[in-house]
Amino acid sequence: MTEGAYAIDALLLEERRYPPPADFAGQSNAQPSIYERDFDEFWEAEARERITWFDPFTKLYEWELPYARWYLGGKLNVCFNCVDRHVEAGIGDKIAYHWEGEPEGERRTITFADLQREVVRFANALKELGVGKGTPVGIYMGMIPELPVSMLACARLGAPHTVVFGGFSADSLSDRLNDMECEVLITQDAGWRKGTEVPLKRNSDEALDRAPGVRTSVVWRRAGSDVGMKEGRDVWAHEVVEGQSDDPDSCPCEPMDSEDLLYLLYTSGTTAKPKGIVHTTGGYLVGVSTTHHYIFDVKPDSVYWCAADIGWVTGHSYIVYGPLANATTGVLYEGVPDYPDRDRWWAIVERYKVDILYTAPTAIRAHMKWGPEHAERHDLSSLRLLGSVGEPINPEAWVWYREHIGGGRCPIVDTWWQTETGMILITPLPGITTTKPGSATLPFPGVDAAVVNDRGEEVPPGGGGYLVLRRPWPAMLRGIYKDHDRFVETYWSRFPGMYLAGDGARVDEDGDFWLMGRVDDVMNVSGHRISTIEVESALVDHPQVAEAAVCGRKDETTGQAIVAFVSLKDGEEGSPEMMTELREHVATKIGKIARPANIVFTPELPKTRSGKIMRRLLKDVSENRALGDTTTLADPTVVEEIKDRAVTEASQEA
Ligand code: WTA
Repeated sequence: MTEGAYAIDALLLEERRYPPPADFAGQSNAQPSIYERDFDEFWEAEARERITWFDPFTKLYEWELPYARWYLGGKLNVCFNCVDRHVEAGIGDKIAYHWEGEPEGERRTITFADLQREVVRFANALKELGVGKGTPVGIYMGMIPELPVSMLACARLGAPHTVVFGGFSADSLSDRLNDMECEVLITQDAGWRKGTEVPLKRNSDEALDRAPGVRTSVVWRRAGSDVGMKEGRDVWAHEVVEGQSDDPDSCPCEPMDSEDLLYLLYTSGTTAKPKGIVHTTGGYLVGVSTTHHYIFDVKPDSVYWCAADIGWVTGHSYIVYGPLANATTGVLYEGVPDYPDRDRWWAIVERYKVDILYTAPTAIRAHMKWGPEHAERHDLSSLRLLGSVGEPINPEAWVWYREHIGGGRCPIVDTWWQTETGMILITPLPGITTTKPGSATLPFPGVDAAVVNDRGEEVPPGGGGYLVLRRPWPAMLRGIYKDHDRFVETYWSRFPGMYLAGDGARVDEDGDFWLMGRVDDVMNVSGHRISTIEVESALVDHPQVAEAAVCGRKDETTGQAIVAFVSLKDGEEGSPEMMTELREHVATKIGKIARPANIVFTPELPKTRSGKIMRRLLKDVSENRALGDTTTLADPTVVEEIKDRAVTEASQEA
């Protein structure tokens, strides 16, 4: 299909309207009056209704730009709210997670009472290893039940954690451990992904060589693989929990202040160094549990499946903390969607009678490519609601998701948010909102989102601009760890008094928001945030690379794909072997997710006369577009040469 035809089609789909289904209206957790509720009243009432406080808060929030503090004076514990109080309330037998390992037939059912026992035992073990209130702990694991157990055990003790996605490399792990000054690392021998083992322990060993502050590494056994244990540093989790009490009174939940650190989660920004996003206790828990309740319309007997990885913010907020606070039964799946077959997800939905499914557009597009027959082989009639997150969803994928997965009856919630926002901020509410394919529709009640132009003025309906937020919300980031200046500079300096999200957006005549992708040097590949500069730094770290420039080009499945333009030292020519070597180099420096799809070798990069690389031109080249203005280039012939090479390289890749 030509690009023009695609654009017309998409426009027609965008015009479609899906009013809330009749069986939702009146039945859903959110009623239309929710939009009329007073901001203060709303967040006070939700905090009281949803969360158990050891000491009540005395003030709703304080807003000293750019820092907000919420539920001041309140004392609570996140683990108590996610686990203990449900057992105390008599629903200990309710299932917290249905877990499936990737190797077929491996299944576990974990009730809230089981979860409590495991968390208490592990917390006792951590305590014996010297972990207490304020001890920073790194976690590098795959999707096994021991991951939420480890996070909750930290929360129980008041030890802040940073979870590092299991797909990141040893280098990425050590950077994060060092930045947070972690004293303990929790990992596992290996995980399963696409039928092969992910060597998590081996990667951690490499990382720990460069993170001398980590004195203890606690290793869960998962794959049973042979791993070396370093004397005096490494301990097996199953050995240290042995003999520990599982009585909750043996390890009481530490009373934490609302504003105590719960976790850091590192995310890519516009420089090579990832930012440690700070999330605290009270506001975060209120924010994620409230949004989870209303947006996913979770009922007491729901089986909810968020198919993200816990290593990203989606997993923190909507696999672990939000759903558990709401005593929700969830599904946890270890592996990839097409192992052993492309119907794996649909077999899971059928087996557990999942009624709410939350995933990313890139996954939906992969299923689209594989064809609807895999879903058709299964009974998906339990599904009631579908969610999307991580990147703009193209209208074709939206409509396909609705028809082929949702049976034409399930509403879709396209949820916009970020690691920084902690909770969903722009979203439809099921039963209320009329949805449009490709639009995230409306700000959540109380959220003051707007689209502004270059001068910070709100643009009228239809116009595009920068997405900003003008009022604080409970789960908002409390800063970048140990970097006040970068916090101010990144989010608050462009438009004083407004949080700059870094996304382009437009608002239509109905007030619905349409997200248009990043406006900065951050790429979005399969819903993962990757900074162009981070990949460039990894490339120039290779001894033969002189210079590199990276951009994201449109990709049908992954949203964006990474293209690197590289010039080698001493006028060396590129080769297919060099391309493989550089891609692997980036995988080692950052992780496989950051490997460029294509590398174009060129003797020179297009630069302005002041020496700045013109990325805009490279993007044009990589997307095969007519080139924009090239008059400011120092040497306009450079770009012509790159264009020729890009075409040749691209056909090589295909
Ligand atoms: C993008 C993921 C359009 C956006 C929760 C944002 C989206 C970045 C959507 C945050 C959506 C996320 N529609 N774009 N529904 N959801 N994004 O920090 O560019 O991994 O800034 O958080 O993903 O990515 P992050």
